[in-house]
Amino acid sequence: MANEVARRRTFAVISHPDAGKSTLTEALALHAKVISEAGAIHGKAGRRSTVSDWMEMEKARGISVTSTALQFTYRDTVINLVDTPGHADFSEDTYRVLTAVDAAVMLIDAAKGLEPQTLKLFQVCRHRGIPVITVINKWDRPGQAPLELMDEIEERIGLKPTPLLWPVGIAGDFRGLLDRTNDSYIRFTRTAGGAKIAPEELMDAEAAAAREGVDWGNAVEESELLSISGADHDQEQFLAGRTSPVIFGSAMLNFGVHQILDALVDLAPPPGDRPDVDGHPRPVTAPFSAVVFKVQAGMDSAHRDRLAYIRVCSGTFERGMVVTNAATGKPFTTKYAQSVFGRERSTVETAYPGDVVGLVNALTLRPGDTLYTEEPVRYPPMPSFAPEFFAVLRADSAGKYKQFRRAVDQLDSEGVVQVLRNDLRGDASPVLAAVGPMQFEVVAARMKAEFDVEAKMENLGYSLARRTNAESADELNRQRGIEVFTRSDGVLLALVSDKWRLQYIQKEHPGLTLEPLVAAAD
Ligand code: G4P
Repeated sequence: MANEVARRRTFAVISHPDAGKSTLTEALALHAKVISEAGAIHGKAGRRSTVSDWMEMEKARGISVTSTALQFTYRDTVINLVDTPGHADFSEDTYRVLTAVDAAVMLIDAAKGLEPQTLKLFQVCRHRGIPVITVINKWDRPGQAPLELMDEIEERIGLKPTPLLWPVGIAGDFRGLLDRTNDSYIRFTRTAGGAKIAPEELMDAEAAAAREGVDWGNAVEESELLSISGADHDQEQFLAGRTSPVIFGSAMLNFGVHQILDALVDLAPPPGDRPDVDGHPRPVTAPFSAVVFKVQAGMDSAHRDRLAYIRVCSGTFERGMVVTNAATGKPFTTKYAQSVFGRERSTVETAYPGDVVGLVNALTLRPGDTLYTEEPVRYPPMPSFAPEFFAVLRADSAGKYKQFRRAVDQLDSEGVVQVLRNDLRGDASPVLAAVGPMQFEVVAARMKAEFDVEAKMENLGYSLARRTNAESADELNRQRGIEVFTRSDGVLLALVSDKWRLQYIQKEHPGLTLEPLVAAAD
């Protein structure tokens, strides 16, 4: 058991759309020999057959809303790559996914540097305190100077980059990597379209200097500058989330990809003891426990069911075992357990801490639920982020009211959006609250595709939500520009038109409860 835990690494890739996450996923899988040629697993619409992009909207937008996990073995280490939604509008979802991983790879486009969504998603990692490995991608194309990129990372996110591998040749003229741990040179050779693993040649410094001349000299000089500025890898600082090892590469050409895997195996932490809701760590070797980090239905028209993704936190999972849901105290039978990556599914018999399992027909499970056997445990609940977009939802025809209600309940329990109700508006027109507007598009698309309900959405003139209580609700409802709702988890939320209105009410009625919620960008 301890052995199985030690040989596991569970991580996610965070990046701005188009930085190359799909390409990198393919390349990683290729290196791990899951598939023989890049392109079989991931990809974009119109490019290759796309396993991960299951919904029309995802295809059109080129984003991935679903979260799935890819498991492969590399150097005798079991690597779980958990997919994150590719857009900051789904940062609440991303946060949930990040509760399931022990490390993140932050993927940056060499030409674009840190982009807004990378920044936001990085903040989510910081929330969770997980160590981050930085990968500068697309080095085969013209881009920024590497030292400038390092400065940008340090200045904008306060994470000190500590490059492990430094590029030889400027962006757009990628020759290979200087391995800063032993001053050797890894020279790459291009292959057609990057479809096969790029051949590497290992050289010592002398041979590298003879081969690459001034480019090698520049790389060595820059590497020395990094050492002088204290940018050498320090394992303790990395695990504490203060520094980030950096690798330069090209996912498309398969350059630097096995170095990413090596960094994960050598540096990223294995699953550790997870603190419960009271802060007491449950040892990884304790009896089975897991958290539900994602619930999803209708992934594929061929499998119209509901899947709950769990991350095993302690003990061994055996398919068929009966576990207890800490939220309800009720038993749950894990008869149908699968690993899911896009449309590919295979049955899981056994899983260990760090592994992700998809439980089929998980009608009673919700994101944040804890499952356990023997010794009871409850992990901290998932925080819900402060919504900033609000819309009233209505079914277009009264005849479909039943489907409409089922659809709303379904999407609500999956955590696709927050659903708010009050007596005034009634059950037929609930209010949807989202962190980003694309969540509404997902609702509309899924209501149509899965429930055949054409839903109408009308934006509401509110821009803020505050947590309130029953004592304050009546007075708040009497105010202009404010309305109180009950969220489906029972929390009372006051929606406010804008921050000036909020300030005014707080000043005029200091006794009223209006507490801020966790902001997505905190
Ligand atoms: P995403 O999942 O993060 O959104 O990005 P994705 O992998 O789809 O990559 C976005 C674009 O960047 C793709 O080009 C892809 O080929 C390209 N790309 C990814 N990695 C590299 C790299 O290392 N070097 C270079 N030069 N390009 C890279 P596209 O034009 O959208 O698709 P395609 O026509 O190239 O297939």
